[in-house]
Formats: sequence, structure tokens, C-alpha cells
Amino acid sequence: MTTIAIIGLGTMGLGLAQLYAAAGFAVRATDADAAIRDSAKPRLAEALALRVTSGKLTSDASDATLANLTVTRDLASLAPASLAIEAIVERLDAKHALFADLEPLLPGAVLATNTSSLSVAAIAEGLRHPDRVIGLHFFNPVPAMKLVELVGHKGTSPAALTIARQLTEAAGKTVIAAPDRPGFIVNRCARPYYGEALAMLDEGRSASDIDAAMIAVGYRLGPFQLIDLIGADINLAATEGLFAAMHHHPRYHPFLPLRRQVAIGNLGRKTGQGFIFPADPGTAPKDAAAIALRIEATLVNEAAWLLSEGGTTTDGIDTAMKLGLNLPRGPFEILEAHGAPKIRAKLAALEATTALRGRYVLAPMLEAA
Ligand SMILES: NC(=O)c1ccc[n+]([C@@H]2O[C@H](COP(=O)([O-])OP(=O)(O)OC[C@H]3O[C@@H](n4cnc5c(N)ncnc54)[C@H](O)[C@@H]3O)[C@@H](O)[C@H]2O)c1
Repeated sequence: MTTIAIIGLGTMGLGLAQLYAAAGFAVRATDADAAIRDSAKPRLAEALALRVTSGKLTSDASDATLANLTVTRDLASLAPASLAIEAIVERLDAKHALFADLEPLLPGAVLATNTSSLSVAAIAEGLRHPDRVIGLHFFNPVPAMKLVELVGHKGTSPAALTIARQLTEAAGKTVIAAPDRPGFIVNRCARPYYGEALAMLDEGRSASDIDAAMIAVGYRLGPFQLIDLIGADINLAATEGLFAAMHHHPRYHPFLPLRRQVAIGNLGRKTGQGFIFPADPGTAPKDAAAIALRIEATLVNEAAWLLSEGGTTTDGIDTAMKLGLNLPRGPFEILEAHGAPKIRAKLAALEATTALRGRYVLAPMLEAA
């Protein structure tokens, strides 16, 4: 039986333990906090019991999943693992120190980080076996979200990527290769969905009109509904993180309405008041198609910029965006549907009038042939 090690048993780590244990792997897991270790099995039992009650899982399958999980105190007990995934605190020094401890203890394991915002290369730097270090970026909630971004750095061995891919696909996930760039694919290519909506809000359009426009062209949730769902504070942190990592490029500009929303504590569902929440978007405005084209043009441009940086494909980006952000179509499918001239013209018109010079500059593949 192949063993998977999980370090960190918080939100993501417990989801990872559930995922691999349910797929029939032996899971050994640990956490620095004794209370978190002690509560891990009861928390998993509770999550599984809900699925049994709602008829989504048999009690036999629930028992088998629980039996596959062993919670241990020390890192040495993780030794049989073929793949170790860390889901600890999002700090470079902590992740680096953990991997330095793990590499001699787990000589046969691929060492994967679930970081959202750190560079995989930076985590691997200075280790004795950087070739074993990869990124495996899961989405919350882990058992439900199909997508996993698989990230190698320059020194990662192809074998490490293959092992992690095979084991994660065996657990039922769709694994998409992503470059070791800030935000990987989804957290980066999603930015314009929010950012361009916020730009329009800043110009005086209503959040309700913008959301209704996107829903009218097939999006399941408008940008502001999504911010309200995830939390304006989380969205602002992701935006500011990428803005800094991308050297304050105007494509990632954090617009004032988002900052204001966080400052006054209207974070969305979790505080009871958001941009739209608790209301729903109204009927689509007359210029819904123009609003949607503006957001879609910027989604296409961001994806095309990422593509130009290497390490991914048009299909990879489209699949990741559909699974990770629940988009009805990927950025390159949007490009195909509208045609490059229409996207180009929209971006050129926006660049001509924006105060944020350079925000709408075309990615190389969109420039006229
Ligand atoms: N929550 C999300 O939506 C999400 C999504 C994708 C990726 N991530 C990433 O996953 C990681 C974990 O996030 P989370 O939301 O599960 O955090 P969390 O705070 O819920 O859990 C982190 C756990 O790690 C433990 N821990 C901290 N330092 C440790 C160490 N040195 N050794 C062992 N255990 C340690 C903590 O006790 C805690 O139980 C972070 O890197 C985060 O960026 C989170």
C-alpha cells in the first residue's frame, strides 16, 4: 500500500488526508499543535458522517477512509511515504525548515508544498535534494474541488512530477501543469474577473449591473457575488500579493472600492453585508454585452501574458480556469468565440482612455499578425 504523508492538519491538510485516505492510500499525518492532532480523526469522522447521512457515502466507505488515516506525533513516523504534502502556515521560513527536516527522514519521498503564494524554487533553495521538491496546489474544499496545479521549479526531477501526478490522479483529481510564477494559473488569471469589475465600479457602474451582465452571458456568479462568497479581505490579500509579486504592474491594480469595503468591514457573506450580498443581482442592463466583453477581454489578455512566460498551454489554462474558478469557458475559448480583432480593439480602446497606463497592453499572441 502506497503511503502519503500530510503535514499540517488545518483546513487544507485535513481535506488532503480525507482525499488520499478515501482513495485507498495509507495516510500518515501530523501537525505541530497537539490539540489539532488530537481533533483530526474526530473532525474527519464528523465530515464523513455528514456524507453518510446525506446518502453520498456508505458507512463501509467511511470506516475504510478513517482506518486509512494514522495521526502521528513525530516527523520520523512519516518515513514510508512516497509523497509528502505540507499544508502548514504560509511562511517561507517555516516551509523551508520543514522540508530541511523532512529530506533526511523521508529519503524516498517527493516533497510537495501546497503554497498559494510562495515560490516553489525559493522553498527548494539550499536543500540537499531540491530535485524532490514540487508544488501541488489544491483548492478549498479539497475533497470537492477537482483541480490540482502541479508546479515544478528549474531543478525538479521529471520523476518527482510524474509520481505526484500519478498518485493525485489516482485520487480522482485533474492535474494541470503550472509554471512556478506568482499565483500559478488560477489565482493569477482570475484577477481580471474581479479587477476589471472593480475598475467599472470605480467609474460609477453598479455592482448589480456588472454581476447581472456576467450572469446574462453564462457566468454562474458575478464578480461581486464571488468576492462576497470568498470574502473581500481574502480577495484584497490575494490582489495585493500578486500586485507586489508582479512589481506593481497596473494589470493587478488594487482598486479603491475593494480597499474601502475591507476598511469598513463589509466582507461579504461572513459579515452579512458585501458588495451585493444579501441581495441578488437584478436584471441585466442594456449594455450587458459591452460590460461582459470588457471583463472577458482582460481575462484573455492575462491568460495570454501568462502563456507567453512559458510552462503552460492554452488547454491547461482553459481547463484550470473552468475547474478552479467555475468559468463557463476558458480564456482561450473566449478568444476563439469573439475573435482576436474584437478582443484587440476592446483592449486598445481601454488603454487609450485609462489613467493606469500599460494596464491593457496586449500580450504578444494578441498583437496583429
Ligand atoms: N485555505 C485555503 O483556501 C487554501 C487554499 C490553497 C492553499 N492553501 C495553503 O495551504 C496551506 C495551509 O492552509 P490552511 O488554510 O489549511 O491553514 P490552517 O491554518 O487551517 O492550518 C495550518 C496548520 O498547520 C499547522 N502548522 C503550522 N506550522 C507547522 C509546522 N511547522 N509543522 C507542522 N504543522 C504546522 C498549524 O498548527 C495548523 O493546524 C497554506 O500554505 C495555504 O496558503 C490554503
